[in-house]
Amino acid sequence: MSIQSVVKKVVKPVVGERGWQALRRVKRKAVGNNRPKAPVAPPKPTGVAAISDDLCKLAAHFKTDKWGAHKYAQHYQRYLQHLRGEEFNLLEIGIGGYNRAGEGGASLRMWKHFFPQAQIYGMDIQDKSFVDEDRITTFIGDQSAPESLLSIAEKIGKLDVIIDDGSHRSPHVITTFHTLFPLLSDGGIYVVEDTQSSYWPEWMGSEDLDSPDTSMGLLKRLTDGLNYEEFVTEGYEPTYYDRNIRGVHFFHNLVIIEKGVNAEGTNKKRALKARYGTSPASTS
Ligand SMILES: C[S@@+](CC[C@H](N)C(=O)[O-])C[C@H]1O[C@@H](n2cnc3c(N)ncnc32)[C@H](O)[C@@H]1O
Repeated sequence: MSIQSVVKKVVKPVVGERGWQALRRVKRKAVGNNRPKAPVAPPKPTGVAAISDDLCKLAAHFKTDKWGAHKYAQHYQRYLQHLRGEEFNLLEIGIGGYNRAGEGGASLRMWKHFFPQAQIYGMDIQDKSFVDEDRITTFIGDQSAPESLLSIAEKIGKLDVIIDDGSHRSPHVITTFHTLFPLLSDGGIYVVEDTQSSYWPEWMGSEDLDSPDTSMGLLKRLTDGLNYEEFVTEGYEPTYYDRNIRGVHFFHNLVIIEKGVNAEGTNKKRALKARYGTSPASTS
C-alpha cells in the first residue's frame, strides 16, 4: 500500500469528504500534480521563415523570375545550399525594375532570406537605393565598364558569389566575367543568367554557335580549360581560367561556374607512350 493510500485511509474518516477535498486542493497548489509535463514543441515558423529553406518557394514569394518565367531557383538551391549557414558576400549584377522608380530588389530579398548570415550586394545601372536595408546594399554601376565593376568590388571586399543578371548583352557579360572572376574567392561561385541572349543578334549575340564573341562562346571555351592538363600541344601555357576553374555546369539559359584549383594531374604520358617516349615504369 502506498503512503498516499495510508494517509487517505487514516485522515479522510476524520475530516470527512469536504475536508479531504480541501486538503487535496491545498496539496495541489503547493506541489502541483505529479504528472510529467508534456514537452513543449518549439513554435512553428510562420510567413517567410516557414519557406526559407526552399529557394523555389522564396523566389515565388518575392516575385523574382528566377522561379516562374525561368527555372533557375532549383539549380541555385543545389549549388549554393552549402553556404546557407555561412557568413559570406554575394553580389548580384542587375537588381531589377530597370528605370521604373520603386521597382526591383526581388532577388536580393530572396537571397537575404535564404542566406541568414550573408551580406547581399546588388549593382544596377539605375539607382535602386530604395532596396537598401539590413544586410542588403545596392550600388549604381555599369557592368560594361571595368572601372565601375572594380570600384564596386573594392567597396565590397571579398566576393564569394557573383551573379550576372544584368544587361545580358554578350560584350557586357564577357567584360564582367574577365573583370570580376579573378577577384572571386577560391571556392566561390560565378553565375551567368539568361544565356539565351547569346544567340540573338538583336541583343549583341550571334547566330553563329562558334562565335568567339558571345557569352556562350566564352563559357563553352571554359569547358576545354577543365582538361588543359590533357592537351598535347607543346609548350601550351595554361590560362588563369584553366588553372582556377574546377567545374562548369550548363543548364537551360543558366551557367554555374565553380572556382577552385584545377590541378588533378594527367595520365597522358602513360596513355601516349609513342608520343612521349616513356615506359610504364617511368610514368604514373
Ligand atoms: C532582369 S533585371 C534583374 C532582375 C533581378 N536580378 C531579379 O532576379 O529579381 C536586369 C537589371 O539589369 C539592369 N541593367 C541593365 N543594363 C545594365 C548594365 N549595363 N549594368 C548594370 N545593370 C544593368 C537593369 O536596369 C535591370 O534592373
